[in-house]
Formats: sequence, C-alpha cells, structure tokens
Amino acid sequence: MKNRACFLAVLVALAYLCRGSVAVAQVLDVDGQVEYCRGQVERTLRELRGRDGKIDYTLTPRYVGAAEHHWNLRSVKRPDEWCAGFFPGILWMCADTLEARRFTQELEYLAYSPIYDHDLGFIMIGSYLKGWETTHDEHYREVLLAAADSLATLFNPRVGTLLSWPRNVAMFGGHNTIMDNMMNLELLFFSGKKENYDIAVCHADTTMKYQFRPDHTANHVAVYDPVTGRHLYNCTHQGFGDNTLWSRGQAWAIYGYTMVYRYTGEQRFLDFAQQVTEAYLSRLPDDGIPWWDMGDPMIPHSFRDASAAAIAASALVELAQYVETPVSECYMKEAKRMLITLSSADYQSREKNPAFLLHSVGNMPAGTEVDASINYADYYYLEALLRLKNYPQ
Ligand code: GLY
Repeated sequence: MKNRACFLAVLVALAYLCRGSVAVAQVLDVDGQVEYCRGQVERTLRELRGRDGKIDYTLTPRYVGAAEHHWNLRSVKRPDEWCAGFFPGILWMCADTLEARRFTQELEYLAYSPIYDHDLGFIMIGSYLKGWETTHDEHYREVLLAAADSLATLFNPRVGTLLSWPRNVAMFGGHNTIMDNMMNLELLFFSGKKENYDIAVCHADTTMKYQFRPDHTANHVAVYDPVTGRHLYNCTHQGFGDNTLWSRGQAWAIYGYTMVYRYTGEQRFLDFAQQVTEAYLSRLPDDGIPWWDMGDPMIPHSFRDASAAAIAASALVELAQYVETPVSECYMKEAKRMLITLSSADYQSREKNPAFLLHSVGNMPAGTEVDASINYADYYYLEALLRLKNYPQ
C-alpha cells in the first residue's frame, strides 16, 4: 500500500513534469518521415548492389562514421556481430519482403550453433521475429523457437538471470548481466514455453532488484557469484563511470520493462517501466535527445545519442497504450518531442549518407562509432514512427 502511494506520487510528479516541458508546437509528419526512411533504404540497397548489381547478403550495413558518407559493412557469419538483425528488420518494416527474406535467412545458422552471447536475442528479434510478424511463416517460428531454447541455456538459476557475456566472466570476476539483456527476454516470451517464460520473468525481477539505483537509474552491468548467486557489485562497460547514467542503458530498461509487461500483464512491471521512464525523462535536455551519458562532465561539450532517443521514443509509444490519461498523453507528447527532433535537419542524415539518422554513440570508452549513424538507431526510429502511425485512436 505504501509502495503504491509512493508510486502514485511519482505519477503526479511525472504529469507535472510533462506539463512543464517545452511545448511540442511542431507537428510531426509521420507518413512523410516513413517515406524518407524508405527512400534512404533504397539508397542503401543501391549502395550494396555496387557495380555488378549483386548484393552480398552476408554483409550487413552497420554504421557510417561521423566524417564518412558510406556504410561500413560487417559479416553476419561472425556470431559476435550483434547488429546483424537490424537491417533485415528495417527491410521488414519497409515491407521489402523479398530483400528482407534474403538478409534474414543468412542468420538462421545462429539458432542452431552454440550460443555466443545474449545478443542472439537482438539478432533474431530484428530479423526472424519481425519476419514472423509480417508473414506468419511457420519456418520463421521454428527458427525463433530454436533460438529461444539456445538463449535459455545462458540462464543461471542460482543467480536468476541470463549470463550476458560468457567471454567476460573472468574479466568481471563473475556472472555478468547487462541492462541490454532485458531486450532479449522477448525471444523467450515469444517461444510460449513455460520454462522460457519463467526464466524471462525471473531475469526481469532479479534485474529490477539488483541492477538499479534507488532513483531508478540503471547500472549497465551487474555481477553475481555464479555458485552462490550472491549479487557482488554493479559497474559500467559502455558508460562514462560506474555511478553515471549511460543513456542507452536506461532506454533499454524502459523498452525492456514495457515489453515484459506486454507479455506478462504483471502490474509490478508496468509500475517499474513508469519509474525508469520518469528517471529518464527528468534528466533530458529540452529537445528530448539525451547526452550519451547523463553524467559526462564534458556536458554541454559532449555528444548526444540519437539511438537512445529512438529506443525510448518507440518504448514510450507502447507504454502510453498501457496507462490512463493524463499520463498516456504525457508519454505521447514526450515521444513526439523526441521524434520531431530526430526528424529535423540536425539529426536526419538526408544527403550526407544513406542512413536515417546522424549522431549516435556506439561505444564511447572504446572510441568506436562515436557521433555516427548506426543501424539500430535507424531501426528503433522507424519502429517508433510506425508505432505512432498505428497508435489506436
Ligand atoms: N547492446 C550494446 C549496446 O547497446 O551498445
């Protein structure tokens, strides 16, 4: 009861926050932006066709660097290419079924190979799940079920979460779980198997318990003792510091808990999705695009992360459907604010390169894909636009 009362107070504060935010005066031309994305996809396919007119479907367009004008391609025949599913997903969303099928089928081997890490979820959700949603092709479902069973092998029942990076157990000194992993629970839920459902729910609950600060901001990495299951410590891998807020991690949490609520209908997940959303929205600059890390001491002379904004916008359009007014209106207003900025000349790639968006930060500590166009920013931007277009009236 006390928790519920606190939670309602948070909602009131959230509604107040939204009323006080910069007015969304501009109108978002959703159809026009979706058309823009389709045009950029055509450019990408032309670029991939090259001189001989043939596409190598084993190569995926991954990013365009800040000073570059063309996609850097990556082989999808390496299981560590975690971004391999996003371009097929973009093709499914653009209804280019022929090319989507060709890029998708190159990923099938991953469902039947020893698992590399949790990113199998990202890869299969972008490609096969989007493909299944479009075609209801039974073969796609079979591949997804095999992939889900493979992902489930990363679960440690003593800890209560999936191991995200098997290769980094020694480096972290234990079973590591990263916030991004919340996204991949969708593959387990989709499978419809009770064992997988229970794993996904347990992962979401354990992560909720140990991987957030009291103010509902996310830690990137949680480390657990793999034998006793004890939570050891939290830290960052891609953020500025262990005590700062890496924006994409918070965006994964918003999207992840909203998705978990979609599959479970459990009130605690909806409440938590709203709490992590409030923590994110209350830290945003006025234009709705977060700094890559909210605690970077270089702010305002630092980089924004369009990918985090696109993920959060897509999640907010879904979350708005699960709550009552005025909170739902607030979430829609915030999502539109983000999408209006992303759709502006400051953030769209337009003639600069064939991606949709500029200004994402992939991995700042590693110095890779900084201020770049990245395929997952494009994927969630298009998904957000389509969710907005199909929002129940
Ligand atoms: N899942 C990796 C990232 O968000 O960069």
